[in-house]
Amino acid sequence: MEQDLNKIGQAYDSIAIEYAEKFLDEHEKKPMDQEILHRFVQEIGDKKPIWDFGCGPGQTTKYLKNLGVEISGLDLSEKNIEQASLHHPEINFHQGNMLALDFDNGSLAGVVAFYAIVHFSEKQVEKAFHEIYRVLRPGGLFLLTFHLGNETMHIEEFLGKPIDINFMFFTVDFISDCLAKCKFEKIEMIEREHYPEVEYESRRAYVFARKPGELLKKQCA
Ligand SMILES: C[S@@+](CC[C@H](N)C(=O)[O-])C[C@H]1O[C@@H](n2cnc3c(N)ncnc32)[C@H](O)[C@@H]1O
Repeated sequence: MEQDLNKIGQAYDSIAIEYAEKFLDEHEKKPMDQEILHRFVQEIGDKKPIWDFGCGPGQTTKYLKNLGVEISGLDLSEKNIEQASLHHPEINFHQGNMLALDFDNGSLAGVVAFYAIVHFSEKQVEKAFHEIYRVLRPGGLFLLTFHLGNETMHIEEFLGKPIDINFMFFTVDFISDCLAKCKFEKIEMIEREHYPEVEYESRRAYVFARKPGELLKKQCA
């Protein structure tokens, strides 16, 4: 069943301050996140622009900015955008919808999306991948993270606040097939267990995928 975007936005609006407090420095506690983000930077080089979709309070955006990447953040929740802008005033953050991106075709060099698909139905995941593929330039790089599994969890409370949203787990096969269906190539999955006492007890995956073609610097905006 399609997830209601208004409900997702409202849920994140209601927990934006608490979410920022809890997750702003999370990459410091997650060595594999750091390794993967460094690899993203190595692969993207000085190509731009790069966007962090479903950026939340902007912890990943900030991490990449600190590594020298020219990056902006986009999120559905207005309050998340407020928090991200407050904590990282040097970065541009915009409210927007990953399922209907307000970007021209082939306008971005890279996209990261950390746990941004966790509230999407399978159909919405496919729509998001189609949109990301559309806005990437040939050779553009996509880095995604998600929770591994095949269950749907209904959440009625998070960070001490009542909310009403679903939390989705996806299989490697579903995500790989979906990316391939959207014409991504060089799809590489890296799996890991959760970090005890740091994060929710679920197995996770990082995915690198490319839009076919060569990412040329001279095409850069
Ligand atoms: C689990 S949080 C992840 C936030 C952050 N990337 C992180 O790793 O902590 C999911 C985020 O995706 C955002 N989101 C959900 N649906 C979205 C959509 N259609 N377009 C843009 N952002 C969306 C939510 O507002 C929320 O900030």
